[in-house]
Amino acid sequence: MILHDPNASAALLDGIRAFIEPAHVRTDADSGLHYGRDWTRLHTPNPLAVVLPGNIEQVQQLVCYANEHRLALVPSGGRTGLSGAAVACQGEIVVSMERMNRILDFDPTDRSVTCEAGVVTEVLQNFARDRGLYYPVDFASRGSSQIGGNIATNAGGIKVIRYGLTRDWVTGLKVVTGRGDLLDLNRGLIKNASGYDLRHLFIGSEGTLGIIVEATLNLTRPLREPVVMVLGVPDLDSIMSLYHIFRNKLELSAFEFFSELALRHVIAKGLHRPFEAQTPYYVLVEFENPDGRHTDTALSLFENCADQGWLADGVISQSQAQAQELWRLREDISESIAVYQPYKNDIALRISRVPAFLTEADALLTREYPDFEVLWYGHIGDGNLHINILKPADLDTVAFAAKCGTVSEQLFTVLQRHGGSISAEHGVGLLKKPYLHYTRDETEIGYLRAVKQAFDPNGIMNPGKIFD
Ligand code: MLT
Ligand code: ZN
Repeated sequence: MILHDPNASAALLDGIRAFIEPAHVRTDADSGLHYGRDWTRLHTPNPLAVVLPGNIEQVQQLVCYANEHRLALVPSGGRTGLSGAAVACQGEIVVSMERMNRILDFDPTDRSVTCEAGVVTEVLQNFARDRGLYYPVDFASRGSSQIGGNIATNAGGIKVIRYGLTRDWVTGLKVVTGRGDLLDLNRGLIKNASGYDLRHLFIGSEGTLGIIVEATLNLTRPLREPVVMVLGVPDLDSIMSLYHIFRNKLELSAFEFFSELALRHVIAKGLHRPFEAQTPYYVLVEFENPDGRHTDTALSLFENCADQGWLADGVISQSQAQAQELWRLREDISESIAVYQPYKNDIALRISRVPAFLTEADALLTREYPDFEVLWYGHIGDGNLHINILKPADLDTVAFAAKCGTVSEQLFTVLQRHGGSISAEHGVGLLKKPYLHYTRDETEIGYLRAVKQAFDPNGIMNPGKIFD
């Protein structure tokens, strides 16, 4: 709800200050700007207030209060999202989980950790590493993204080919539903065949059903001496040939790709080319290599692929430091192009459909974007392609978004024919909402609405996100 009467808003916020310390109910412009948006820049943040609860009880009180007064709430984690799901531009109250950042429990027998929603991904990863374990959901925004946000978007990232998505690591969730009820879902169990698993409804719900307050996550053993190869590839078809060969012979923990155009942006920021040859595309492969036992296999694969003309050059890391440097060529792309306000596509396909889709999409984008810089990169080993269109400096944001939106309709028509999804890991939020019907038909969206109605009958939880 948008409040036009400042006195009414002030009175409502005073009501919140009765159960959350006044210092944590903020209305200053800086807080509104900082907490009212994610990494997208299309919408102007305009929250009524930013509230930072310190415990579950305060979250529950806030949700009950919001129901009573019909106030819209936008749950907020590290705000690294790329679909506008954490944007508050309609006078909502942002609920930041930043203060709820404690790791509550670790159990070496279960190999699990329980934490509050505001724990930063990298803090959890380091916590696991210090105990000889590994939290394998990983991506470039690990330093600021939060566990609650990762769960709310079912975050994927760079190791999905081996370890799956966030969903695969969540064994327990505490949530405050849009009704204000506290649910303790699955409680860390591996097996639990006692009916509907509501935990999975909250994973990927983008804050529209309630607020995730606590999570229990599985951990695993760390990768043993991972090795990274970067390979220079002449065309998109060759990428898929490499995928088949490398995946059959090595247990891959990553299979990523990026284009020469994307590489140029990280090089402009100070990184070095992996080798002299310039090729239209590059593949980054990672695999475990304890005691160097797979080095010979990797090198002979390299030679076979070179003989077939599927790669032109390559490098294999000789140390963990070099492996990390090579990773930066891929991981730093997103940040290096942020200044161009890219229009982002985050497409998912079954791997078997990737080659046919790539051929059609490449032709379409070359035809439709003759004057725009189009960058390809992503987690191609998961069937996840990030196609980024850079905004020319002289084109205003709205005209650029409109042009890209028209092309998206054509791209998603092709995608739909190939059975793909308009979002693999970034979520729907505000940005992909107009295109949801390319992935979910009206009947299915009807069921989504019914689920929303069950958990959030007054529509206070992140209204306008995913669908209207
Ligand atoms: C990535 O894979 O780099 C992230 O999803 C961010 C992005 O797509 O820009
Ligand atoms: Zn990604």
